[in-house]
Amino acid sequence: MSTETNWNEAPMSQLVDYIITKHHVYSYAELDLISELLTWHVRNYWLKFPVLLQAHTLFHQVKAAFEQHMIQEETAGFPMIKAAEKDSTKSLAPFVKTITHHEEAHEHAISTLRKVKETLWNGEPPAEIGPEVATTITLISNLIADLAEHIRLENDILFPRARALQA
Ligand SMILES: [Fe+2]
Ligand SMILES: [Fe+2]
Repeated sequence: MSTETNWNEAPMSQLVDYIITKHHVYSYAELDLISELLTWHVRNYWLKFPVLLQAHTLFHQVKAAFEQHMIQEETAGFPMIKAAEKDSTKSLAPFVKTITHHEEAHEHAISTLRKVKETLWNGEPPAEIGPEVATTITLISNLIADLAEHIRLENDILFPRARALQA
């Protein structure tokens, strides 16, 4: 659907639903899975590789922050966009005022996930835990790639359209 849909033309409510079902659902699931894996790495290897503690802390900070960000979109910003699109008397000003915060949250999430990845051995992980950590690193890379598209849809399409509707 995404490749055929012109998101500059489709209703914003459709774009918002697409972002939630395609990107938010995936992000929640992957954040949970990566959390489990990192916790397992820490439990088994922190004594030998204390850097795992640092990655675990950093990851859980970004996990909490980004989950809160998505929840805020789903319960405040996105419903406001849908309401304003349906009824032109409904103001989008409260949402438009928060766009900068949304963009900062996006930047923070993607740069922190990159930092988590770098902390988990940017090059070759030690052979002893290599294959297990490599799987976790791949999942983080996939999440970063999905986040890039998720952020593009919001920063480059949804937010400018919300601003234009409010103007
Ligand atoms: Fe989002
Ligand atoms: Fe967002």
